[in-house]
Amino acid sequence: MSINRTVQTLDEFTIQQLRDFPHATGELSNLLRNIGLAAKRINVEVNKAGLVDILGDAGSVNVQGEKVKKLDVFANDQFIRVLQHGISCAGIASEELDDFVAFTDDKSIHSKYVCLFDPLDGSGNIDVNVSIGTIFGVYRRVTPVGTVVTKEDFLQAGSQQVAAGYIVYGSSTMLVYATRRGVNGFTLDPSIGEWTLSHPNLRCPDRGKIYSVNHGSFFEFQKGVQSYIQACQSRPATEGGPLRQRYVGSMVADVHRNLIKGGIFMYPGTSSRPEGKLRLLYECNPFAFIVTVAGGKATNGLIRTLDIVPRSLHERCPFFVGSSLMMDELENYLRND
Ligand code: AHG
Ligand code: MN
Ligand code: MN
Repeated sequence: MSINRTVQTLDEFTIQQLRDFPHATGELSNLLRNIGLAAKRINVEVNKAGLVDILGDAGSVNVQGEKVKKLDVFANDQFIRVLQHGISCAGIASEELDDFVAFTDDKSIHSKYVCLFDPLDGSGNIDVNVSIGTIFGVYRRVTPVGTVVTKEDFLQAGSQQVAAGYIVYGSSTMLVYATRRGVNGFTLDPSIGEWTLSHPNLRCPDRGKIYSVNHGSFFEFQKGVQSYIQACQSRPATEGGPLRQRYVGSMVADVHRNLIKGGIFMYPGTSSRPEGKLRLLYECNPFAFIVTVAGGKATNGLIRTLDIVPRSLHERCPFFVGSSLMMDELENYLRND
């Protein structure tokens, strides 16, 4: 059997990256390692979802007024537990919690990072065995190290992220994370329980053949979005013919596919919900950061997602993200709306 000597684990990769920064403390690497650990625990439960009595609603309603699935609760608890017991996170905010959680123990208050996450994205797909995910963004706190974090630490523009990533629980389980230096994807090798570098230096193609949107809401979209969708559908044969429409309803899976193959994902505002559905802090900002580092673009239709200054933890915004040339085309339609 030949041995692939280039295979690198997540830990090896982050340690190697540290060597380029002699003054780095390793705190971010440690935080990523903790996130990887929480994700492995969630993965075990996700894989068992069809077997154990974990399907169905937990009976409560989250702060967004949506039904909470049991696995959402489990994933949320895992993340908090792992990050709280670690030494590299001063506090968290989660889609599933009304308010942020400050970690008040002596080690945590001396951490410089806060983490914001959607513990389980696409949870409506759990019952039908379609890919789901976890999304996270990491920020350097703005309050002094050694104190307890405050809301200010969480209400930062997405451009302030130092790292962001997602886990997709799909046909295989992948962790993709970005720092300003690049985007790298790791596939979980279940035989050894290690994240293994499988997609080094991911770049989003400038253009792709896929557009992803919930067509059911078409007549509620603004004119510019409708015109862009119609342009996707009627692209002339000389330019490759109509684009393909792909939308599974788990943003993690939809954006992951488009990041690799090239494409555009849209969750526009609608006449009944002008802000759309997706949450700026937990869903849009991490993906805006990842795709931007990979060479793509992300906007709310007016400005770069990463430049939006959040006013509240759970605010929503329209979201358009994907291949740069496709985003440019979309923006032309929106401008002429
Ligand atoms: P969540 O499961 O965290 O609530 O997020 C689901 C989101 C997103 O992943 C997906 O793209 C979108 O909801 C689907 O919504 P529609 O059914 O309205 O298209
Ligand atoms: Mn979500
Ligand atoms: Mn969720």
